[in-house]
Amino acid sequence: MCGIVAYVGKRKASNILIKGLKRLEYRGYDSAGIALINNDINVYKCQGRVSDLESILTEEDIHGFVGMGHTRWATHGEPTDINAHPHESMNGDFIIIHNGIIENYSKLKIGLENEGYSFKSETDTEVLANLIEYVFLSHINDDIPFSAEEAVRQALLMVEGAYGLVVIAKSEKDKLIAARKGSPLVIGIGKEEYFIASDATPIIEYTNSVIYLNDGDIAIITKNSLNLTNLKNVSQKPDIKTIDLKLDEIEKGGFEHYMLKEIYEQPKAIKDTCRGRLSFEAKALKLGGLHDVFEELKSAKRILIIACGTSWHAGLVGEYLLEEFTRIPTEVEYASEFRYRNPVINKGDIVIAISQSGETADTLAAIQLAKSAGALVLGVCNVVGSSIPRETVAGVYTHAGPEIGVASTKAFTAQVTVLTMMAMAIGYANKGLTKKEYEDLIDELYLIPEKIEKILEKADFVEKIADLIKDANNALYLGRGYLFPVALEGALKLKEISYIHAEGYPAAEMKHGPIALIDDKMPVIVLATKDHSYDKIVSNIQEVKARKGLIIAVVTEGDTTIKNMADYVIEVPHSDFALAPLLTVIPLQLLSYYTAVKRGCNVDQPRNLAKSVTVE
Ligand code: F6R
Repeated sequence: MCGIVAYVGKRKASNILIKGLKRLEYRGYDSAGIALINNDINVYKCQGRVSDLESILTEEDIHGFVGMGHTRWATHGEPTDINAHPHESMNGDFIIIHNGIIENYSKLKIGLENEGYSFKSETDTEVLANLIEYVFLSHINDDIPFSAEEAVRQALLMVEGAYGLVVIAKSEKDKLIAARKGSPLVIGIGKEEYFIASDATPIIEYTNSVIYLNDGDIAIITKNSLNLTNLKNVSQKPDIKTIDLKLDEIEKGGFEHYMLKEIYEQPKAIKDTCRGRLSFEAKALKLGGLHDVFEELKSAKRILIIACGTSWHAGLVGEYLLEEFTRIPTEVEYASEFRYRNPVINKGDIVIAISQSGETADTLAAIQLAKSAGALVLGVCNVVGSSIPRETVAGVYTHAGPEIGVASTKAFTAQVTVLTMMAMAIGYANKGLTKKEYEDLIDELYLIPEKIEKILEKADFVEKIADLIKDANNALYLGRGYLFPVALEGALKLKEISYIHAEGYPAAEMKHGPIALIDDKMPVIVLATKDHSYDKIVSNIQEVKARKGLIIAVVTEGDTTIKNMADYVIEVPHSDFALAPLLTVIPLQLLSYYTAVKRGCNVDQPRNLAKSVTVE
């Protein structure tokens, strides 16, 4: 949430900042701003998109080789010009951009007001700007010169909460001071230039050499130097990494929206996630990232999965898979609930944290809690180098590639793929699966990308169905077994991008309440591929039909029974029922995409949402 980009070097900062903000816009898009350092510090900011910011800049404004920019997802204070970042301290000595939440900001604000400070905005960030300035000015007459970075350090020691921030001091305008606690920051290292950003996307065009800041790090950067310390001013050794991210991976590549591109990328994302791990020829499966913990996994007494949103839905599929293939009791928890409800965590428990971004604040906090209780914590993440993989002892990356559309699509199927492989590997090792079952699953998983290609060929048909639901106010998604989490995911996709209220339910639960909602205006999307509960779901479809609900069913190719009952059927190829989530979710993603487009919604940047939820 909130995107940060900063630059010091030999190029015109404004170009880098605006381009960088556009790449980070998926993190927040209610207001944007930049500060450019020429002889003075010039701040330009406004409510709205980066393109709105761009339109208020003129040729005379955009000089200077140092600067910083911010795209905001509002926490404290509405999205307005004044609340947009950067924020200046009262006397103009410091300027700051910030991602995160300063939890004790009201207390700090009262203290500063008592010292004569006044505030222009409602933000916690302006409080921090003034706090830094206050600390700095309190030492202005010291015999030993007091630096701007020391003021930042001392101010941060008074702060509770999370931050990824960049500060520029009026007294040292060639210097960027960056600090991190809880909110991600990455530094790009060029030749006589440095970049700072919330993630690597604004940087990769210029360099693939990066440093991910750790919590408590403070980096002091000029064109020619980088000095890394911590809050206690102890020097830290920079860990320089090379990132393997290509520019075309973060561009739309001819698609109208990132979300559509990412839906279409799923066959490749799954292949990439299986590459080097699953061998169709050798009928083998190896998850290198779990090698060192595999014995513990095999003999785990209990597995706990923690995640949020779509990743939680993938976790629910994971629970079904793990219990079925390994017989190890598995539970899935919302990270936000887990961290605050005093959960039972036993020493031998294995915790699997799932996250696309690897930065979700609640998931990170739940990991800390599980670690402190002695659990072995593993990660399933997509963004390489993000915080969760660094906080966990082992794990498996999904190789879905960058996911930019705010609604998660390819990350979900890649997560389910990883969880399927994990369950298969553990199940085969602990005899939950026979050799034949294991090898059959390998064959089935190998064929999934091809089957998804076939479903994607039906996109035009799904687009027509979207016409039927685009004017609905509500929609119900029903599924059983492995398809219940898919029903939840389908409903989430529809509501988040088209703003149609939608609920996902286990189909049998319909009779315990939601059936009251069904009338001829209610689209009911039923996941009804052939598995052991097929007959039951057929009965549920009859019940909806008897109440005149509009039935859209996702069925196995060749199904004639449901075809005769439903208003529309979308066919998907046959697969092992444990793998059906990977296929059945595809038409639901397309359905929500086309519905949102037909309703004129901003598909890639739905209202009020942001991609990486770095605040709790
Ligand atoms: C929905 C969506 C969110 C995320 C959730 C967790 O389409 O994208 O529900 O799944 O915010 O994010 P990660 O996976 O980054 O932890």
